[in-house]
Amino acid sequence: MRSSTGFLLASGLASQALAAKLIASHFSGPVYTLDLTLANATSGTLKVTGQTSGCGRIPSWITIDKASNSVYCFDESWYGSGVLAQFAADDEAILTPKASAPTLGNSVFGALYGGDDDKSFVITAEYSPSTITTYKLPLSASSKPVQKLSWTMAQPGPRPDRQDKPHPHGAFLDPTKTFLVVPDLGADLTRIFKINKATGELTACPTAASLPGDGPRHGEFLETEAGLRYYSLNEVASSVGMYNVTYGADGGCLALDLVQTLSTFGDRKGTTTEKAAELRIAGEYLYASNRNDQKFGKEQDSLAIFKLNKADGSMTFQELTNSYGYYPRPFQVNAAGTYVAIGGQTTANVAIVARDAATGKLGPLVANIDLPPRGTYGGEDGLSAVLWYE
Ligand SMILES: *[C@@H]1O[C@H](CO)[C@@H](O)[C@H](O)[C@H]1NC(C)=O
Ligand SMILES: *[C@@H]1O[C@H](CO)[C@@H](O)[C@H](O)[C@H]1NC(C)=O
Repeated sequence: MRSSTGFLLASGLASQALAAKLIASHFSGPVYTLDLTLANATSGTLKVTGQTSGCGRIPSWITIDKASNSVYCFDESWYGSGVLAQFAADDEAILTPKASAPTLGNSVFGALYGGDDDKSFVITAEYSPSTITTYKLPLSASSKPVQKLSWTMAQPGPRPDRQDKPHPHGAFLDPTKTFLVVPDLGADLTRIFKINKATGELTACPTAASLPGDGPRHGEFLETEAGLRYYSLNEVASSVGMYNVTYGADGGCLALDLVQTLSTFGDRKGTTTEKAAELRIAGEYLYASNRNDQKFGKEQDSLAIFKLNKADGSMTFQELTNSYGYYPRPFQVNAAGTYVAIGGQTTANVAIVARDAATGKLGPLVANIDLPPRGTYGGEDGLSAVLWYE
């Protein structure tokens, strides 16, 4: 099978990539279309083929709905107003602004949920106002929130510099698509909501505590032989946590029980200047990105690789591998499992590394592109997100 954005699967061989498209956002405003062309399995080039604006002043995150040729972009603007933008992608993944809704800004994440198609609403997480907000799709200039929930804390958490108040940082659908889990970096817990699919309304379930000082940021579900598991990327502690997932009887709540926590550095704990960022699962491997360990040299941070036990989902640390960037904030494995796109936040680059699906190992570097301007040390600037358009 072959398509301009897809892959040719050679029988009996590792898949041979021909070309692929990616979408990347930059904190300074632009949203890019990138073309990856491969000369062979381990060597290629990345080119900018499109650039648009329309995601406000500080695009922080993107989500793709390929079925409707849509890219959604979330604005972290801290100037008191922002946007929630939808772009239409053409056959070459070139983006045109399609619709946008006004927000109060400071969104660090967004995801689709609800409705008959599980993508009739969008939820955004606002870091400093400590809120989540939901909207009905399609978006328009007169879109109003369906719901807005906000939280406070009586006192700061164990890392007062990061945990001064609640900081919701993501929103992840469970496999039944009837619950959303919202990691709260400030409050050291994962918030859980039951979805009313018809109205998009969220009802709070009991929260799941993380370890004190974990600072959960992102997460992903995985079905194992022993049942469903949820993996949490903990930014403040630079660790990953594995939770058992259970469902209450008769439409009751989803519950998370923490089973295992491992450092994203293997044999040592993270320091206060290191901040894990993203977590992705592919096959029997889990990957987590480390910002600011410079394990592989100046401005060369690491990704951690964990092997997942097929039976019960437990994690074993394998090794650190080069992310080819400084502050790898976003990264994603392609659908074929053969390449990983890594966004270096501060270096403002996108690196493509090869992935061995059998061993889970990453490398070598296949292609790289710099998308200036670079970010500043520790700043919320530079490259914010990158996803495969597939
Ligand atoms: C892949 O292509 C690059 C660039 O054309 C070349 O330098 C390299 O030798 C090739 N590698 C293999 C394994 O064919
Ligand atoms: C998690 O589930 C496993 C069975 O898959 C069970 O043995 C274990 O006790 C559970 N742990 C917690 C903390 O719920």
